[in-house]
Amino acid sequence: RGFSSTSASLAQSATRRITVVGGGQMGSGIAQVAATKNHNVTLVDVSQESLDRGKAYMSKSLKRVAKKKFADDATAQTKFVDDVLARITLTTNATEAAGNADLVVEAIVENIKVKQDLFASLAKAAPESAILASNTSSLPIAKIAELLSAERKERFIGLHFFNPVPQMKLVEVVRTNETKQEVVDSAVAFVKAIGKEPAVCKDTPGFIVNRLLLPYMMESIRLLERGVASARDIDTAMKLGAGYPMGPFELCDYVGLDTIKFIVDGWYKEGQGLQGNKIFESNKTLNELVKNGHLGVKTGKGFYEY
Ligand code: NAI
Repeated sequence: RGFSSTSASLAQSATRRITVVGGGQMGSGIAQVAATKNHNVTLVDVSQESLDRGKAYMSKSLKRVAKKKFADDATAQTKFVDDVLARITLTTNATEAAGNADLVVEAIVENIKVKQDLFASLAKAAPESAILASNTSSLPIAKIAELLSAERKERFIGLHFFNPVPQMKLVEVVRTNETKQEVVDSAVAFVKAIGKEPAVCKDTPGFIVNRLLLPYMMESIRLLERGVASARDIDTAMKLGAGYPMGPFELCDYVGLDTIKFIVDGWYKEGQGLQGNKIFESNKTLNELVKNGHLGVKTGKGFYEY
């Protein structure tokens, strides 16, 4: 299988065959880091084009990693990239891919219905012992698992990675009221085995990071609207005064203003206790930027121009 018997990370983790569904930004990153740590990975997407795009993301990112790892050795760099990619199988058949998986991580579109349907079909195919996980940022984990049997719900968990996956060390491990302790333990072991740091938390809106970050971002925008300071000065203040690596507006532009709006609008409407909370009421500035297609770094303009 190509597993190294001396790998300490694998010894800690019983999950070796990983199926990642959704080969976009997040899914290809998750596939890449798992394969880098010697897991056998199958990456699933809806079309060959999306798979090709996912593979291109991974190659590019792996080449960067290889350059750092093997500075002056072009042969070693190529071998590293080829070896990691060789552990990743690409397919458009999700149920077949789930058929012998120890862990399935879903990273498809952020749509509750589409995710529920996907898991309903994965549950028919995956081994009973498999752990099913979602990488959702904003949807309740228990709701994604709603159509599944009681046994499947016990083995269902959130594995919330951060963008860009190869660089970001954190994974939030999100347990529902149904998730079994042994499943939490396996998920934590998997996260450590792929070189990340787990933070375990309950299934509540925004988990830990986004629950604290979104109010901060929204209040930053309101500070700007009230004319307290410019975006540049607010960013400078938070970087130098609070020690944050990015200011709130740089971060908003990086995350994507459409994503921020999607999350706060969702919570404001039906946020499991957050609905109607003024902190999450979207405002004129954010709405107009999104309406005009200024979504941040990815469109070349948001609060700043790129
Ligand atoms: P993306 O749009 O880059 O990728 C989604 C991929 O899923 C696309 O390639 C699409 O073709 C594929 N897909 C859609 N429906 C599918 C289906 N039924 N079966 C198989 N593949 C399907 O999106 P991104 O940014 O990678 O996000 C994916 C998930 O990760 C979302 O749930 C999002 O909330 C979550 N997430 C996103 C973060 C981000 O910063 N972009 C951070 C953390 C989580």
